[in-house]
Amino acid sequence: MADLSTKYMGLKLANPLMVASCSLSKKLEGIIRIADSGAGAIVLKSLFEEQIQKEMVEDIEKHIAPSWHSEAYDYVEKMGMELGPREYLGLIEEAKKAVSIPVIASLNCVSTRWWKDYAKQIETAGADGLELNIAYMANDMNKSGSDVEKLYFRVLERVKDTINIPVAVKLGPYFTNISQFTSQLCRHGASALVFFNRFYQFDIDLEQMKLSAAGPFSSESEMRLPLKWIAQLHGKLECDLAASTGIHSAESVVKQILAGAQTVQLCSVLYSKGVDYLKEILEGLETWMETKGYGSLDQMRGKLGQVESKNPELYERLQYIKVLVGIE
Ligand SMILES: Cc1cc2nc3c(=O)[nH]c(=O)nc-3n(C[C@H](O)[C@H](O)[C@H](O)COP(=O)(O)O)c2cc1C
Repeated sequence: MADLSTKYMGLKLANPLMVASCSLSKKLEGIIRIADSGAGAIVLKSLFEEQIQKEMVEDIEKHIAPSWHSEAYDYVEKMGMELGPREYLGLIEEAKKAVSIPVIASLNCVSTRWWKDYAKQIETAGADGLELNIAYMANDMNKSGSDVEKLYFRVLERVKDTINIPVAVKLGPYFTNISQFTSQLCRHGASALVFFNRFYQFDIDLEQMKLSAAGPFSSESEMRLPLKWIAQLHGKLECDLAASTGIHSAESVVKQILAGAQTVQLCSVLYSKGVDYLKEILEGLETWMETKGYGSLDQMRGKLGQVESKNPELYERLQYIKVLVGIE
């Protein structure tokens, strides 16, 4: 039997399959099902700053100004956030009692204001780690790329100054120089980086002439973006890399680990095939390792990453060349 155990941000996981932050883990029953299906670790649904604000607004209404209404209140109300922070902290405590796999909380704030306080409460509630879902929409024409990156560093520094549990940063793919930016994130104390978040996308309904929501779920081909960056960065950064987006099968898991991923995070495929599908993926991973003669994940990790490659230049190509794709 192949050894699937792995270390991720200092935590011991029985295998590298993590369930990504999503609604599958927003209730205790879901968390127990995920653990029973064999996940190596779970990232809880994010606690959103907007939820926190909503609770604050409710408190203000109740205790300070019962007639107070504002645009901000309407906005927050419309966000329709599902869990309040108190329930969230309770969920962490219950999850820690109910399952033995690492429970990683997830925090999504917009401003730097609340990161610290809630990170502390999350740690106190017993989370094994914290994933920072810093989903900043960079659309201010007066802000440079460097300004945006500094915001990430500031948030990470504040959280790291406040808590002792390991911290991961889940980032999007839209940075000018991902190599430099991610190495800075590691230097600022991130124990792991999650490549990548998949942001909300919209479409256009031509019949009704209005915006429509594009599906929230990924397709498997999307796993090539994290694959590329993990292959390029494995062995060069001082933190673990988790692959996220488009990982739908055992084959994709194998590819991400060969590229250098420490763990993989799954979401969309578990909505379509059910959480039990984790068992099938684990079996597929073990079978592949046995067929190829790998006894542990460490033996195969990064084998097809840039650092171990005899042709490192191939990982950096942006344009098509005939020798690679057969056409010009
Ligand atoms: C319904 C749904 C809810 C999600 N909620 C969160 C969330 O609360 N926090 C977060 O960081 N990512 C969230 N995500 C993003 C996933 O964690 C994941 O990064 C993304 O779906 C890409 O992985 P996939 O291709 O396996 O779906 C959500 C995704 C879906 C589909």
